[in-house]
Amino acid sequence: MPDRYSQIVNAPVVSTVARQVGLPRPVDLDRYQPDGPVIAGPVLSGAAPGARLERPLKSLLDDIGAERAGAEGKAKALVFDASGIADSTELVELQRFFYPAVPRLRSSGRVVVLGTTPALAGSARAHAAQRALEGFVRSLAKEIGGKGATAQLVYVEPGAEDQLDSTLRFLLSPRSAYVDGQVIRIGKAVATAPAIDWDRPLAGRTALVTGASRGIGAAIAATLARDGAELVGLDVPQAESDLWAVVESLAGETLPLDITAADAPERIASHFAGGVDIVVHNAGVTRDRTIAKMPEDRWAQLMEINLSAEERINDALLESNRLSANGRIVCVSSMSGIAGNSGQTNYAASKAGVIGMVESLAPELAKRQATINAVAPGFIETQMTAAMPIGPREAGRRLSSLSQGGLPVDVAETIAWFASPASTGVNGNVVRVCGQSLLGA
Ligand SMILES: NC(=O)c1ccc[n+]([C@@H]2O[C@H](COP(=O)([O-])OP(=O)(O)OC[C@H]3O[C@@H](n4cnc5c(N)ncnc54)[C@H](O)[C@@H]3O)[C@@H](O)[C@H]2O)c1
Repeated sequence: MPDRYSQIVNAPVVSTVARQVGLPRPVDLDRYQPDGPVIAGPVLSGAAPGARLERPLKSLLDDIGAERAGAEGKAKALVFDASGIADSTELVELQRFFYPAVPRLRSSGRVVVLGTTPALAGSARAHAAQRALEGFVRSLAKEIGGKGATAQLVYVEPGAEDQLDSTLRFLLSPRSAYVDGQVIRIGKAVATAPAIDWDRPLAGRTALVTGASRGIGAAIAATLARDGAELVGLDVPQAESDLWAVVESLAGETLPLDITAADAPERIASHFAGGVDIVVHNAGVTRDRTIAKMPEDRWAQLMEINLSAEERINDALLESNRLSANGRIVCVSSMSGIAGNSGQTNYAASKAGVIGMVESLAPELAKRQATINAVAPGFIETQMTAAMPIGPREAGRRLSSLSQGGLPVDVAETIAWFASPASTGVNGNVVRVCGQSLLGA
């Protein structure tokens, strides 16, 4: 749903004036519709010489029944396999493909560039050329954001060519509406993925979502349940009735619990005596003050909720072997943890710590055939952001390539992609859900 500013600048007459004076005019982004196709329009694909991903790409496009774009006419997605580029002189292949293709891209279109993990590209020249793709994609995302279109770069490790499916389905679809200008790294599978029903990829999987009684947590709960998960929603005991209201309609269970309680890790582990497939650490708080006005209790309480409790819960689940094989831990970091924010030293430290937790646990979880990843939301339309003063609120919305805030469901869809049993090659990633916010980019 467009915010008030978007409604005004896109209204007849005003839109002409807004265009003339150069005001951002946010596009109403395509979002997931039940029974909709993965991508609603023709896909134009291309490749540089030496490409390694053409075969898995073609098979994915066949599987999703994607219409192929012809030599002319509009395209809903542009996919370019740059994985074979081995020298900076070959980067011109990007110009050759995108120069005629970008004007054909439709509103809410998708650009995906596929590359080879630079450090594994085989030579110093190839490393540099593959690394160059980041600058290209981030700039292209800024050029096409005005039409609500997004661009991402997916680095695929040699030997992980068969791991593209879940990521490409997500990036091509409207589920990734507010993910923009991101670099995603795909590695070899940590486990054997089971056969997937793509309409209900989480069928038969149990999922714990903390902070599920409202806001982003409620959207995560609804999205994981929509995808078939058996849901356990956790929130503080004071929020039990709100939690029940969310979980009841999703045929889930409630677990009223303060995650900072001394016995919380043990209680969570024993609740999942038969194992848990997906753990989403969403519960989090802000306690904003500049550091010169920050009392210790304000700092300590936030750090407990946003980071230390999550570490203890992970330890308890891993020590008791309760995280199932092909299990998933998904954390909610924040753009503040990447960019920093005045008045949020405590919050940004905790959310940067979440990123550190993902980095440090990813190899350990891979050994256990599981993954850990994080989303880092930018400006998301929630009660929290609605209560902000108008200046910072409008800046938060407009200072991004998509010129608007995201919705809780945008964060939830990204978590559902990480949580998919097919995302066995997606480990240790931190993906911003921020419309390519200019902050900390
Ligand atoms: N809203 C945004 O724009 C935004 C941006 C970046 C990151 N985030 C992060 O997303 C997550 C959800 O944010 P939101 O906007 O929905 O916030 P919210 O305040 O609406 O929801 C947070 C939930 O966590 C629960 N919670 C807090 N402390 C808890 C505890 N000790 N034990 C159990 N549950 C507890 C709360 O009761 C609440 O239901 C948070 O981690 C937040 O830091 C939000």
